[in-house]
Amino acid sequence: MTTIQKINLGKNGPLVSKLGLGCMRMSSIWGGSTPDETESIATIQMALDSGINFLNTGDFYGAGHNEMLVGKAIKGRRDDAFISVKFGAIFYNGQWLGMDLRPIAIKNFINYSLTRLGIETIDLYQPSRMDNSVPVEDIIGTVADLIKEGKVRYLGVSEITADQLRKANSIHPVTALEIGYSLADRQIESDLLPTAKELGIGVVAFANTAEGLLTGELKAPLPANDYHTHFSRFQGENLIRNLEKVDVLKQLAQEKGYTPTQLAIAWVNAQGDHIMPLVSMSRRSRLPENMQAMAIEFTADEMNTLTTHFAPGAILGGTYLQR
Ligand SMILES: NC(=O)c1ccc[n+]([C@@H]2O[C@H](COP(=O)([O-])OP(=O)(O)OC[C@H]3O[C@@H](n4cnc5c(N)ncnc54)[C@H](OP(=O)(O)O)[C@@H]3O)[C@@H](O)[C@H]2O)c1
Repeated sequence: MTTIQKINLGKNGPLVSKLGLGCMRMSSIWGGSTPDETESIATIQMALDSGINFLNTGDFYGAGHNEMLVGKAIKGRRDDAFISVKFGAIFYNGQWLGMDLRPIAIKNFINYSLTRLGIETIDLYQPSRMDNSVPVEDIIGTVADLIKEGKVRYLGVSEITADQLRKANSIHPVTALEIGYSLADRQIESDLLPTAKELGIGVVAFANTAEGLLTGELKAPLPANDYHTHFSRFQGENLIRNLEKVDVLKQLAQEKGYTPTQLAIAWVNAQGDHIMPLVSMSRRSRLPENMQAMAIEFTADEMNTLTTHFAPGAILGGTYLQR
């Protein structure tokens, strides 16, 4: 199996695997059924055995289910894992209601998270979005207090603007920015990525497959009950045009002897030493394929083909990620 390299997360930050495991889809997020828990735990443990130590969860993934699952998987081997937790999103019956980042709420959230995870310190703790009703100073300041208390090791942020990133970093050093990034969603290249680089902040890049679009496995039209159809990217003419773009990725993947998903992950990986692909995998069978992607290199011509065909804006329509 491919050996996964370790990187420092941010300037002088902790040593973590260059590939991260996203655990979100191991729980019911939008109210659907819960995936096979035994397989999910086995996947986390196989990832740890394979040198992937970065695990990503959120206290709102499955209303705490995801943290309990991660807690079970790391029981007896806490030191093998680097635990990244998002907080602040409020869900009810699978519906997103908004954010709550009041200091009083954050202090409540962390204690529940630590209990569910069965650990004493969260390695990376991050508001999942910003909440305009609470001053950034209060949000970041509260996490800084938790770091002083020893409940948290490092501050992270997620899905924020370049200005918010600068502001947060001026209050307390930000170790990592968790952000959606893929061939299909490149809008962060204009300001957020350069800002993170300038400030020495690690980038944890999720949605590398763009909700599965870049796996090459989707066909138009999608069944009406498929969750993708909520997003304009996967509807009608948009989907037809977008799948034509994905054909270029499929073609290149075939020529190189890989899968489109592997190339989608490899492309994110190739964007910088400080950028970590954070990939959802809910079954062990995904691991060898996605780990192998981390060893793929592109020629200048191949890179040019991909960046030209997937120029920012080339993929029509959006997902929940559009900013
Ligand atoms: N900060 C935020 O706002 C935010 C938002 C969303 C997600 N996240 C985090 O980022 C992680 C990744 O995000 P994501 O789930 O949106 O994107 P993703 O990693 O692109 O995963 C999307 C889907 O790709 C599938 N997949 C993985 N490897 C594959 C392969 N080799 N071939 C075919 N399909 C494959 C996964 O299926 P299986 O599940 O069946 O393995 C998953 O359903 C999440 O787990 C979560 O921890 C953060």
